[in-house]
Parts: sequence; C-alpha cells; structure tokens
Amino acid sequence: MRRSRILSGMRPTGRLHLGNYAGALSNWVSLQEKYECFFMIADWHALTDRTDTKQIKQNIRDVLIDWLCAGLDPEKSCIFVQSHIPEHAELHLILSMITPLGWLERCPTYKEKLASGEENNYGLLGYPVLMTSDILIYKADRVPVGEDQLAHLEICREIARRFNFLYGKVFPEPQPLLSKATKILGLDGRKMSKSYDNYIALSDEPKLIEKKVRRMFTDPEKVYAGDPGHPEKCNVYTYHEVFGKPLGEDVEKIFEECKSGKLGCVPCKKKLSSVLIEVLSPFRKKRRELERDAGELEKILQEGREKARQVASATLREVKDAMQMSFS
Ligand code: TRP
Repeated sequence: MRRSRILSGMRPTGRLHLGNYAGALSNWVSLQEKYECFFMIADWHALTDRTDTKQIKQNIRDVLIDWLCAGLDPEKSCIFVQSHIPEHAELHLILSMITPLGWLERCPTYKEKLASGEENNYGLLGYPVLMTSDILIYKADRVPVGEDQLAHLEICREIARRFNFLYGKVFPEPQPLLSKATKILGLDGRKMSKSYDNYIALSDEPKLIEKKVRRMFTDPEKVYAGDPGHPEKCNVYTYHEVFGKPLGEDVEKIFEECKSGKLGCVPCKKKLSSVLIEVLSPFRKKRRELERDAGELEKILQEGREKARQVASATLREVKDAMQMSFS
C-alpha cells in the first residue's frame, strides 16, 4: 500500500507572511513526515490575479525560498511549478468537457469575484477545473486547504465522481485536510493580506518587525498603560500564544499581567517583537544562503519537475486508456 498522498498549492504572490506560515505552511512542514507530498507553485492560477506577468518568475523564486526557509524539504516532498507540467493543462481540457456550467457558476468564489467587479472571463470560471486537474493528476487523497478553498474541493470531488462513473474508476475522491492552525490576523485586526498592507513578512528585518509590531492594534479598552486589559480579545496576545508559547515564553504570565493592568501595551509589544525576531531569524539566515545559490533553487525545481511529470504523465495515460482514446 502506498502512503496517502497529499497535494497542495499556493499562487505565487511574492514573499509570504506570518499568516501564510501559521495558516498553511507550518502545517505542510509537519505533513511531510506522514504523507507523500506534492507542493506546487500555481503560476497559471496566478494569472487570474492580474499580476503583471513580468513579476511571476521573481514571485515563484520568492515563494520557493520562503517554503524552504520554513522547512519544506525537497528530499521529502516533491516541490514544483504548475506550468512546468503541461499534463495539468491537458487534463483540464478533458475535465472541462464533463463539468456542467452550473457547478462553476454556483461557486461562491466565482460569484464574489464577479461581485467585486472583476472581468468575467473563461479562466475565472474554470479556476476550479484547473485546480481539480492539479489534484487529480497526482491522484491525491488529501488536500490541505483553508476554508476559502472548500468549495473548489467539493467541485473537484464531483468531477472525479463523474469521470469515474462515465469512464471507470481512475481517480480517488480527495478529501480536504483542514489544519487546526490558528488564524493570524493582520496588524490592523483584519485578515492578514498583502493587499491590506497589514502583514509581517517571513523575510522582514528586525528593525521592520519592531516598527510593524509598534503599529499593531491592541485592546481598545486599554487606554493607559495601567488600565486592566482584555488579552482574550487582543490580537497582540494571540501572537504571543501562537509564536511565543512554542519558544517557551510564559504566556500565562502575560495574560494575567495584562488583565491586572500590570503589563502595559508598550512593553508587551517589545516582548512580542523579540519573539518574532527570534522565530524568524533562522528564516532570514537561510534566505541569505539561498539567495546566493541560484543553482540550488534551479536544481530543486528541476528535480521536482521530473518527479511530478512522471506521475502526471502516468495518470494522463490511464485517463486516455479509460476513455479509449490512447494511441500508439
Ligand atoms: N487555489 C489555491 C489558492 O488560491 C491554490 C491552488 C491551486 C491549490 N491549485 C491547487 C490548492 C490545488 C490546493 C490544491 O489558495
């Protein structure tokens, strides 16, 4: 029996932030121990973001470096770029023929995009079909995703079921793997996002981290340093729990002292800065090494490409056999 297989992906939007790390990446790192993992940089999917395509190569490089800094290990996982594997596009075409338009039109992410005034194009509608082919071409059993991707995964399972019904069982029906990871909010208390400019990047320098932490919103009811605070409602306290606790920080003490008014927001944030600087310092060190070693990055993507391509082309052959459309 083969180990259960995992596939997940991220669009290359540039350098990653603490929200990406706490919400997804740190979980991927631990999944490597138990599963056979495929991690993909979804550059075709990024075309729906209207990113300047000149930027995409650099963004791929930045995402790859952040992945490696966080602990994704090319010895354990297959790390590759979506557009390096043309089989995804071929499977996407085949699957598009058995995907009813209604499934795609009902998809909430598609409806949101349209509501936000985005151009209604073919690629946007077909986004979940491309994502389905990413997953099915590796016959992934589990897909670690955030809640925002669950609707896409539902469509993926329906397409897999439909293919299996029409042509014979080729695909497993992939299940989501929701991580227990905490949602890390941005500096201003909204979702952490590049577009809100409220993030701390994994590659931020200590000075910048300090500056950003000083900017963080805290409990609005704690006006003066001596006022009793509400750590259970304070974003800064959540950061202490998520990042400080694993380092051995006494977060219960921070909780109590904030509540009693003994700990003011300024020293509390100073503590947090030093925690984040410590957590991210090995990331920065590794980034500096990797940035000097373009050859190593190339090699990792080349090896990932070869391994992914083998699996993908074998699946595509099975698909064509099942459809009685294989030649030679
Ligand atoms: N749509 C995913 C996102 O925006 C990225 C992605 C592309 C993906 N293909 C995938 C995730 C396949 C999981 C599996 O986050």
